[in-house]
Amino acid sequence: MTTETPIKDENIVWHQHSIDKEFRAKLKQQKPVILWFTGLSGAGKSTVAGALENKLAEQGYHTYLLDGDNVRHGLCSDLGFSEQDRRENIRRIGELAKLMADAGLIVLSAFISPHRAERQLVREMVPEGEFLEVYVNTSLEVCEQRDPKGLYKKARAGEIRNFTGIDSDYEAPINPEIDLLAGEKAIDELVDDCIQILKQRNIIA
Ligand code: ADX
Repeated sequence: MTTETPIKDENIVWHQHSIDKEFRAKLKQQKPVILWFTGLSGAGKSTVAGALENKLAEQGYHTYLLDGDNVRHGLCSDLGFSEQDRRENIRRIGELAKLMADAGLIVLSAFISPHRAERQLVREMVPEGEFLEVYVNTSLEVCEQRDPKGLYKKARAGEIRNFTGIDSDYEAPINPEIDLLAGEKAIDELVDDCIQILKQRNIIA
């Protein structure tokens, strides 16, 4: 299924409301940011993002975790895995993440998001420094060995088409803000790696 790009209507005018992003962030006493986890299916995106969210929430930060499989049950339930549908999937999630950052939240998103161009598109939706690309860097071999949902097995058997890493491309980030060696390190270590960079960037105290 595909969707048409809507044409911007000159009769639709942006309304500037008085309660703005800065105010909302100040109320929450935090800096909004989008932590964009990308990597192969089974790389550990949702697991690491979830563990990081726990840690941030424990410290009193206001967060929201957008997860690929979950969003595909609702907002993106009309989309499949063709190149075009994946692009639309990421565009929608990007807009949603942007709104959530506008609400003052620390947004964690866990999507394969296989194309550099779409990740760049989302990066450009928000002010500089507000989008951090987190590469969940786990090799295809390890992901396939883990195969937590049995999907690699199905893809190899030809039961699933366009499966990322098998018959659909994954473009690894070139210069991610956070590079997680998720095939080698334990979850706690990966979370600590993220926390360290968030501190270095003065996003958290
Ligand atoms: S993305 O490519 O559009 O970013 P997304 O992260 O939303 O993908 O969804 C990926 C999840 O959908 C995988 O973790 C897996 O559980 C499931 N899935 C089902 N079919 C496919 C497929 N053909 N390729 C990749 N993942 C698939």
